[in-house]
Amino acid sequence: MANYGHFDDSNREYVITRPDTPLPWLNYFGQDEFFGMATQTAGGYTFWKDAKLRRLTRYRYNNNPMDNDGRFLYVKQGKSVWNPGWKPTRTKLDAFECRHGLGYSRITGKKDGIEVEQLMFIPPGENLEVWKISVRNKTKKPQKLSLFSYVEFCFFEALNDMTNYQRTYSIGEVEIEGSAIYHKTEYRERRNHYTLFGCTRKIDGYDTSRDAFVGVHHGLHDPKAVMAGKCTNSRAFGWNPVGAQQINLSLKPGQEETFAIVLAYVDQGDLPKFDSPMVMNKTKGREILARYSDMKVVDAAFNAVKERWESLLSIYQAPKVPNVHLQRMVNTWNQAQCMATFNLSRSASGYETGIGRGMGYRDSNQDILGFVHLLPARARQRILDIASTQLADGTCFHQYQPLTKKGNADIGGGFNDDPLWLILSTCAYIRETGDLTILNEPCGYADKPGSKDPLLHHIETSIQYTLNNRGPHALPLIGHADWNDCLNLNCHSKEPNESFQTAGDIAGSKAESVMIAGLFLYATRDLVKLYHFMGQTQDASRIQGHYDDMLKTVEEQAWDGAWYTRAFDAESKPIGSKVCKEGKIYIESQAWCVLGGAGQNNGRAKKALQAVDKYLYTPEHGCALQYPPYSTYHSELGEVSSYPPGYKENAGVFSHNNTWIHIGWTMFGEGEKALEYYLSICPSAKKDHDVYRSEPYVYAQMTASQFSPTPGEGKNSWLTGTGAWSFVVASQSILGVQPDYTGLRIDPCIPKKWKGFSVSRKFRGVTYSIEVTNPKSKSKGVKSLKIDGQKIAGNVIPLPTDGRTAVKVEVTLGA
Ligand code: BGC
Ligand code: NOJ
Repeated sequence: MANYGHFDDSNREYVITRPDTPLPWLNYFGQDEFFGMATQTAGGYTFWKDAKLRRLTRYRYNNNPMDNDGRFLYVKQGKSVWNPGWKPTRTKLDAFECRHGLGYSRITGKKDGIEVEQLMFIPPGENLEVWKISVRNKTKKPQKLSLFSYVEFCFFEALNDMTNYQRTYSIGEVEIEGSAIYHKTEYRERRNHYTLFGCTRKIDGYDTSRDAFVGVHHGLHDPKAVMAGKCTNSRAFGWNPVGAQQINLSLKPGQEETFAIVLAYVDQGDLPKFDSPMVMNKTKGREILARYSDMKVVDAAFNAVKERWESLLSIYQAPKVPNVHLQRMVNTWNQAQCMATFNLSRSASGYETGIGRGMGYRDSNQDILGFVHLLPARARQRILDIASTQLADGTCFHQYQPLTKKGNADIGGGFNDDPLWLILSTCAYIRETGDLTILNEPCGYADKPGSKDPLLHHIETSIQYTLNNRGPHALPLIGHADWNDCLNLNCHSKEPNESFQTAGDIAGSKAESVMIAGLFLYATRDLVKLYHFMGQTQDASRIQGHYDDMLKTVEEQAWDGAWYTRAFDAESKPIGSKVCKEGKIYIESQAWCVLGGAGQNNGRAKKALQAVDKYLYTPEHGCALQYPPYSTYHSELGEVSSYPPGYKENAGVFSHNNTWIHIGWTMFGEGEKALEYYLSICPSAKKDHDVYRSEPYVYAQMTASQFSPTPGEGKNSWLTGTGAWSFVVASQSILGVQPDYTGLRIDPCIPKKWKGFSVSRKFRGVTYSIEVTNPKSKSKGVKSLKIDGQKIAGNVIPLPTDGRTAVKVEVTLGA
């Protein structure tokens, strides 16, 4: 078992100690409008707002070697050429370390007594990335060396950039001024923005033509200019513009040189575009470079990144959790992942190319569940943006582009679970903030120009949409798919060139989803509580009526004897039922029926969870999505049966849906099971990284299951709904601190042997210091709750009415 690194919990870092990790291990920078991704070997790219439309640097997915484009530094000393991040030269280093922290990565490489450190981050609120570079002579002799920087520019629109070479090879334009390289392709025409790649120190040469710096027949592992020890001062006209700078250093024994490189997206705004014909007005670029030439400014910007994260994380911290994995995930890494999924949805990661998917309707709504406590104002805006992509009949665009906030017509709508997720995000927002005004915010329907219907209207429309679109069993119609994007019961696709998600006619179809029925139960129950909080009891009972009807339908139509049926296909045949040859039991219908409150009074909920335990679960990898996997393709099922058995939706461990089962166990007070299941998918708890391969600090969307030939292999890390839901599981279901309409509700569900733990939670302007003790070794049930020493009834902490901003809470379990 190889060891690739370890957590440094006190610094909130993961320390990678050898560069050849089983897969590239990625980190994110930025949380406003400018984003970067970097792996431990400095691979990755940078973009403003939208990785498709405003990409600054190039990245080749599907490349070999994998992850071969990035923000590189080369050291040339005598004959030796190396990178502090090991790649692309892969010259053996004497020492290597990459510290992925929150919003920054620090790569340090050492060879022959020369140490180079590259600290990369995006300062809060800025549209730029800084690399603080320190070069140290650790020897007792003077040393001479040349350092080269390197990025390859992207022509902003990433899809065109990687497909339309007959055009792109003739459009590239740059300007060079002092130590700054300006990439200004298409600036002459419709663009009002450019990329600045500037060094804060005097440089000894540069290149902007890739052919000159790398060479047509060379690679990034042996770039011509670096091998020769000299940049050529090339200016790119067309072809592939790059940014490369040469810095010659003479270092005395023990001497250190520190400077910065800034990669910025500059919007020209109202400034005149040109100083003279063909010469760009570079005022803004110059100002940026001048500002960051002061290393105090660089250091202050880095401190601002750290301080911002500390302040965000101080909203929820659980410092004394008896399980180290849960503790570090809930306190640090899970929240970092929630930030990334909120910002990027499923658009740009090591596996999402940034050109395919924009923001997902269902995804973004769920992402809010793990993010809303951090920055509720941004969650509020997001909810309104999402709702505005809904059509007046309740249909939702499945995806939208962040830059335009308009629904993507190529994928369209008809994913019938989509509308309901809006209710979950809205209720979560109101429980966190108490802010009911969001419901009255006008947010029009996408197909009703000028409409100003408030958010509450969208919520009612979403309920109505589900009620209006039901099938022969009175269960909700599935449309193109529900949460399981691969359950395409109407696609009947026999054509390899079409998308499973959009193929087939959903009009007039009979295929139904039990998962949506369960989600409807959950959403309506949420809404009933909201209406009560608003004092609208009539509306509450109206929605309660819908809940009761759907519950009856689920119990009558969807119980299969030992678990809940998953769906009914276009011919009304059951899916996820004992009568099926394969795909007899699915996880999602167990999860959502239980979460929605089905099976509570008749023992079925518990049975459904037990069936998951029996057929789907393994302690090493978590729960497979269904059992048995499909061994052949079924056109009546769609993409789910297209994957080889044990991968993705065909019975892979799809981490996202596991989290719902974790909540299910806590509903039944099963603290041991809840934690055991939680740890089964927890990246920090993975033991053999050569098997798991993915990052140990963030969730992967999928782990190859016990039914696959490669069980335990994690894939598609970072951008997954597992982020938000795991945070809900750990913070609310296990540690049990739940924002509710009238105050914080305390309802932990923990292993019996835990003696207690503490949580510090900022909620509606008050800091709650919560101490939980478990003297009687129970899993669930609050026996007593003391607020600033005063015992109160129930388990909801009332909001202070006397202006207190710090409240001490003592919880004793054991009811
Ligand atoms: C994947 C799904 C994903 C969908 C998005 C499918 O190929 O298996 O997990 O949601 O694509 O379009
Ligand atoms: C990933 C998609 O982003 C999400 O929307 C979907 O629910 C899951 N895959 C399951 O198919």
